[in-house]
Amino acid sequence: MLIWRDAMAIGQPEIDRARKHVIGRINDFERALGAHGPHTALGLFLTGLYEETSTAFGREEKIQRECSFPFTEMHHREHAAILEKVELLKEQYDELDARGNFTPLLRELAGLAKEWITAHIVQSDLKLRPYWLNHNGIYLRGQH
Ligand SMILES: [Fe+2]
Repeated sequence: MLIWRDAMAIGQPEIDRARKHVIGRINDFERALGAHGPHTALGLFLTGLYEETSTAFGREEKIQRECSFPFTEMHHREHAAILEKVELLKEQYDELDARGNFTPLLRELAGLAKEWITAHIVQSDLKLRPYWLNHNGIYLRGQH
């Protein structure tokens, strides 16, 4: 199970809510996988995921621009890569029937979850924190 830690927070409530939601979705997936198997678990995980992720990423990028975040362009490319993988997973899922072989899909999902959580949420997203704080008139020690 993935656990949200306060050290992972940016401080901007909407962005943090969306990031916590991704972690919750992955935890829900793991529970559903154990209880109902890969077809149901993947179906629940992928339903609406692209749309809500696309909306959340768009909102995050807008806030980044407002905060003059210098890595917006690079960050946008990471978002686009995640969205592309979500879309591909959904397409592959839609082509499989309930008795198909889910092993490759589960492997891809594990890779995506790792990239999304470990590389993106924990590292890339968090870079916004000092810029968001500065934008709101809060300065961190050693930074003025
Ligand atoms: Fe992000």
